Amino acid sequence: MKPIRKAVFPVAGMGTRFLPATKAMPKEMITLVDKPLIQYAVEEAREAGIEEFIFVTSRGKGPLEDHFDVHGDLYRILEERGKTAELEELKKTEIPSGQQFFTRQKEPLGLGHAIWCARAALGNEPFAVLLPDVVVLSSRPCLAQMMDYYAQKGGNLLAVEEVPKSAVSSYGILDVAREEGRLAVVKGLVEKPSVQAAPSNLAIIGRYILQPGVLTHLSAQRKGAGGEIQLTDALIPLIGKQPFHGVRFEGKAYDCGDKAGFIAANVAFALERPELAGTVRERVKKLVN
Ligand code: UTP
Repeated sequence: MKPIRKAVFPVAGMGTRFLPATKAMPKEMITLVDKPLIQYAVEEAREAGIEEFIFVTSRGKGPLEDHFDVHGDLYRILEERGKTAELEELKKTEIPSGQQFFTRQKEPLGLGHAIWCARAALGNEPFAVLLPDVVVLSSRPCLAQMMDYYAQKGGNLLAVEEVPKSAVSSYGILDVAREEGRLAVVKGLVEKPSVQAAPSNLAIIGRYILQPGVLTHLSAQRKGAGGEIQLTDALIPLIGKQPFHGVRFEGKAYDCGDKAGFIAANVAFALERPELAGTVRERVKKLVN
């Protein structure tokens, strides 16, 4: 079984649900407590053993590249001022030279198209995909949990979570053959089904481990739900030919591409920080009461 060394971060979307915040700033740079969303995804990938970080960008996404670069002037000033803790924290954001790759998606044609834009960097290796607007609060990082299952099962793995029936039309939804503990053996997938057509309420939340064969199916560039080239549609032909599982990971996913999800994530992540938890809990309590 080939190890997963590469991860794709699709960051070429326009973030229209967050306008005007995203007019001049990438959605993936929006701050969750004190770190941009993209940094949570990169740290999760790193903790799962990823060595190569492939970003699918678009016009105006320059700050994303800068965020993972060295910042000599700032480092020097922090050093002169004795701010060593801040300096150490900042250095952790860097991705070493030769381990980060940027490719452009020239038009936001959909998630499937964004992944296809990374095909040259991916080659013929299995890879992970992390949607940075989804952050997962868990004791063991979500992708690391998926890697554990990959070591047992191989093939394709999708992180899934149960969502309310009324919300299924916002997600890719699993059709499940049978449950094996935290794993759901997949027999079908539907992107953004109606409530009536949904085969379950198990939703794909934005973490994938995929075999390279999906890239061949993405080359067809067929449009699906919402007129976009959907990753889910290109996965369907692989079902039954390769191992294919949903992973009911331990933890909770927050969709930060959605305003309410983003606000909830800020509270949830702040409550996990010892230096903030007490004050935040008090303030939220006062507001809610
Ligand atoms: P979203 O659909 O949540 O992002 O895609 P979006 O299109 O930027 O958001 P809205 O709906 O307009 O507010 C999830 C992830 O996939 C990327 C986005 O950047 C985001 O990180 N994406 C989406 C692409 O890279 N290319 C696309 O064509 C679509």
